[in-house]
Amino acid sequence: MSETGNSPKETDPDDGRRKVLRGLVRNLRRSQDPGEPVPPATRQSHSHASLRRSWDENAASWISWARHPGHDHFFWRFNLPNLLALLPQPEGLTIDLGCGEGRLTRTLRERGYRAVGFDSSPALVRAAHLHDERAPAFLGDAAHLPFADESAALVVACMVLQDLDDLDGSIREVSRVLAPGGRFCFAILHPLNTAGLFRETERGEEFALWAPYFESTRYELTLARNGKVLPLVGCHHPLDHYTCALEASGFLIESMREPRPDDAWADQRRLVARWRRVPNALHVRCFRAPRP
Ligand SMILES: C[S@@+](CC[C@H](N)C(=O)[O-])C[C@H]1O[C@@H](n2cnc3c(N)ncnc32)[C@H](O)[C@@H]1O
Repeated sequence: MSETGNSPKETDPDDGRRKVLRGLVRNLRRSQDPGEPVPPATRQSHSHASLRRSWDENAASWISWARHPGHDHFFWRFNLPNLLALLPQPEGLTIDLGCGEGRLTRTLRERGYRAVGFDSSPALVRAAHLHDERAPAFLGDAAHLPFADESAALVVACMVLQDLDDLDGSIREVSRVLAPGGRFCFAILHPLNTAGLFRETERGEEFALWAPYFESTRYELTLARNGKVLPLVGCHHPLDHYTCALEASGFLIESMREPRPDDAWADQRRLVARWRRVPNALHVRCFRAPRP
């Protein structure tokens, strides 16, 4: 997630992408032998690891990041309230897709949703089960959901879709398990965010693309704040990769929001304030159209 505060121990999350960018430039330079055509920036320095496996390997770091009180302020102060504001009233089964250690499932249940979690990481599903406010959580791959056709009224996914190995297959599965008229509500890192990075220049901080916007491109980055380190892997997709996959699976977009940090929060933290110039996240509510 693109989130850090401004204490001296913080690292800028864009450092990871900058490293990738330096790799790309090196690759490009190497290929510039006389007479040889310069290929487009390749993805040699990008991660080819399974995103799913990486999340399980980093489960302990994620649990520590997500559960330490006040630490993951981008979730509690930004993504959670904005996503909750998009949800329909509780009705029927709610699936928290990519539930992680279960904080969103627990919040939904407190608010009256009949929510169950679902995640591909055995370590995270175990953590969700072992929490004091234990919520049901199922293990599996989003591209093969173990739920019956048309069995759910709502699927929620907070900061998950950019982390899936098979985005299109997973959206097809969400469509299959939703009853007609059901809703799919999700928050993702904004495609402009995942395609770009902030860097210091003589003119001050500037935002620039690190990858070709229209290509789906995997990335790795490491967040560090207040002694906690979180290695992240994900995939940049252009906006119309998401919207075409939704369209192909019978979804109609009802709401699409680009939330901005509020003044009080942005005034406290320089690395939050930058997201008032560039969108950090995209929040969407979709309607599952009746099948023909
Ligand atoms: C950024 S975390 C978000 C966790 C949770 N939604 C939250 O906000 O606390 C992304 C989650 O997606 C899960 N994930 C990645 N690939 C998946 C897949 N193929 N199927 C199901 N979950 C997956 C990861 O294990 C991880 O828990």
